[in-house]
Amino acid sequence: MLESEYMKPRQLPPHLRPAPTPEPPFSFSIREAEERDLPDVREIYNHYVKNSVVTFDEDTMTLKEWREKFAYLRKLEMPFIVAESPSGQVLGYALVTPWKQKKAYRYTVENSIYLGPASTGKGLGRALMSELLERSTAAGIKEIIAVIADSGAEPSIRLHEQFGFEEVGRMGKVGFKFNRWLGTVLLQKSLKKPKSK
Ligand SMILES: CC(C)(COP(=O)(O)OP(=O)(O)OC[C@H]1O[C@@H](n2cnc3c(N)ncnc32)[C@H](O)[C@@H]1OP(=O)(O)O)[C@@H](O)C(=O)NCCC(=O)NCCS
Repeated sequence: MLESEYMKPRQLPPHLRPAPTPEPPFSFSIREAEERDLPDVREIYNHYVKNSVVTFDEDTMTLKEWREKFAYLRKLEMPFIVAESPSGQVLGYALVTPWKQKKAYRYTVENSIYLGPASTGKGLGRALMSELLERSTAAGIKEIIAVIADSGAEPSIRLHEQFGFEEVGRMGKVGFKFNRWLGTVLLQKSLKKPKSK
């Protein structure tokens, strides 16, 4: 036997090898967004700008733009929340923005929920949506609208329907991204304050 073969690390037979360390359970907490979360929020959002049609933005957002949006929503007292891992990493966020600027629209908002790609499909979207609706109701918002791409956004449509959003319209070919025309589906939900006992 060659000397180099003696040096090879010995491997135990499969039944004697220690069991692999199990993946830690997926856990998170939800809280109001803070300015320090904006770099993570920006990274999550820009991933979808660059790689998907779930947002019709084509240019990535800068930190300055996120700071301005954060300050604007805080001034309006509109919910902006994040989900963070036990180690403090932002896993996803949800917010609402005014539906339109004209004053009579003041009780109507549009919502956005974005999770980091590694955090999708684990129930986090549902948890953020539930908290967002609760906080929006408490903030006095009456109507909430989701504008969703009509292709490539099936999980989002499914998530909104699960929370009682109903389709109220479709617009065809209103967007053009990655060399193809895209439409939108509009879903709406009325928010009602729970009756006090
Ligand atoms: C949309 C999003 C918030 C949903 O959150 P999530 O935690 O990933 O939700 P889930 O993966 O558990 O899926 C929600 C529902 O959609 C369903 N779904 C998932 N992938 C699907 C697909 N490709 N086609 C159809 N339904 C799908 C799930 O089965 C689930 O329904 P169920 O509870 O009846 O099983 C999240 O996936 C995300 O951030 N996506 C990218 C950004 C985005 O699209 N944001 C919305 C912009 S309007």
